[in-house]
Amino acid sequence: MSDERKVQTHHGELTLSEIADALPGTGEIMASVASAWWKCAYAARGGNWDLAAYFARRVRGLQRGLAVTRPKYAGDLAAFEAQQLDPVLRAIDARDRDGFERSFAAATDRANELHVKWAKPYIRWVLPDDPPRDLYLGPVGTNPP
Ligand code: HEM
Repeated sequence: MSDERKVQTHHGELTLSEIADALPGTGEIMASVASAWWKCAYAARGGNWDLAAYFARRVRGLQRGLAVTRPKYAGDLAAFEAQQLDPVLRAIDARDRDGFERSFAAATDRANELHVKWAKPYIRWVLPDDPPRDLYLGPVGTNPP
């Protein structure tokens, strides 16, 4: 039994650790990150730059939230944002296709290095061959055929 102090919630008494454990874990956040990252790549390739920006910002928001709920990753996540995500966002803003591919690949490599660092060398994210089918990826203002 933990001797940690309990706090009163409207579900009953819980310890702060129980509340922290109940938050979405790193694996769940990363599954959302990976889905947004995949869609970001295909939105940029399709020419829907606003959608690519949306998904790159979504990755950033998910990772900022993770830095709060799992502070042991905060330093790596802040460095990843500054050194990897910002260049991706800048390439998207500039509609720079080559710059996007370069910075996206570099960010993916760095993410996989961080998986090794955090003792998960078997998690190596790769861009799926298939584009997402639930979103129109062409430029805004055009329509699906
Ligand atoms: C765009 C960048 C990234 C992608 C696409 C990505 C992808 C993934 C995927 C697919 C998983 C497995 C998720 C699952 O359990 O279903 C994972 C796990 C993980 N990732 Fe990432 N990741 C990225 C960035 C990062 C960064 C910057 C860190 C820095 C700390 C990180 C740390 C981790 C850790 C620690 C796990 C293991 C989760 C656990 O222990 O439950 N990842 N990642």
